[in-house]
Amino acid sequence: MKRIVIITGATSGMGKEFAFLLDKKLNTINEFWLIGRNTEKLKEVKKAMRTPCKIFECDLNERTELKKVMKQLYHEQVQIKMLINCAGYGMIGKFEDISYNDNMGMIDVNCRALTSLTYDCIPFMSKNSRIINVASSGAFLPQPYFAVYCASKCYVLSFSRALNAELKDRDIYVTAVCPGPVDTAFFTKAETYGKKLKLKKYVMAQPRDVVKKAVEDSIYKKQISVYGLPIKAFNYATKVMPHRPLINLVYFLYKKQK
Ligand SMILES: NC(=O)c1ccc[n+]([C@@H]2O[C@H](COP(=O)([O-])OP(=O)(O)OC[C@H]3O[C@@H](n4cnc5c(N)ncnc54)[C@H](OP(=O)(O)O)[C@@H]3O)[C@@H](O)[C@H]2O)c1
Repeated sequence: MKRIVIITGATSGMGKEFAFLLDKKLNTINEFWLIGRNTEKLKEVKKAMRTPCKIFECDLNERTELKKVMKQLYHEQVQIKMLINCAGYGMIGKFEDISYNDNMGMIDVNCRALTSLTYDCIPFMSKNSRIINVASSGAFLPQPYFAVYCASKCYVLSFSRALNAELKDRDIYVTAVCPGPVDTAFFTKAETYGKKLKLKKYVMAQPRDVVKKAVEDSIYKKQISVYGLPIKAFNYATKVMPHRPLINLVYFLYKKQK
């Protein structure tokens, strides 16, 4: 039976890094299935990989698009060794200033598509399979002017932790990756309606480092992967401090830089 890895958001940033790293690291995988919106970019990633790849052009805002992947799964009866749910986007700005489609789109891509693909993939997983869901450090605290995005990533973190517990019996492990700011194309889109907090540039991580840590944590069956000291400290602060003053602080910082 063919052993595969499925990656969403494989066209750029961390998704692409996951593809390249796992291509080097995993020797027993027969095929990578790369999911993204941009076929040309997917072809470039495929070309740079040594393991054969199948590419799926899917806009995850559209509910029916993942059916293409589903059909192929049933047609080929593959074994999924890893599912990486990496596709996602965020919009910074006042909730009511962000378009309806962008607000709902964050929920569709970050939550609905991730849940739907996970649901479809689990029957094809076996002992020692892994799921990596890319959440965000935004999941640790509600953030004014990043409200829907942080709420969507809070969903990803909560869902991943609960699913990890449910799947332990089957020896399948789920890791939620919670990076702080990462130097990818993410912020180009995210700053359509508002600017990111200036302090984020001081804690910006490189996608390769975040992905390397995520894969290691997944191998060690960790339920959460947090890269870098500043983000670990932020995670700790959100556990020991009351959230109201922290939320007020984020609000104040956004207002001040406007
Ligand atoms: N960068 C950060 O600071 C940061 C921090 C924490 C968490 N994250 C999370 O990390 C993940 C990867 O983001 P990144 O930083 O690598 O940014 P990125 O370079 O912008 O990559 C985002 C990926 O998601 C895909 N995507 C977005 N909307 C899609 C849609 N409607 N249908 C299909 N694919 C879609 C993009 O495909 P296209 O090329 O087609 O747009 C792209 O491949 C996201 O879930 C993001 O929320 C990022």
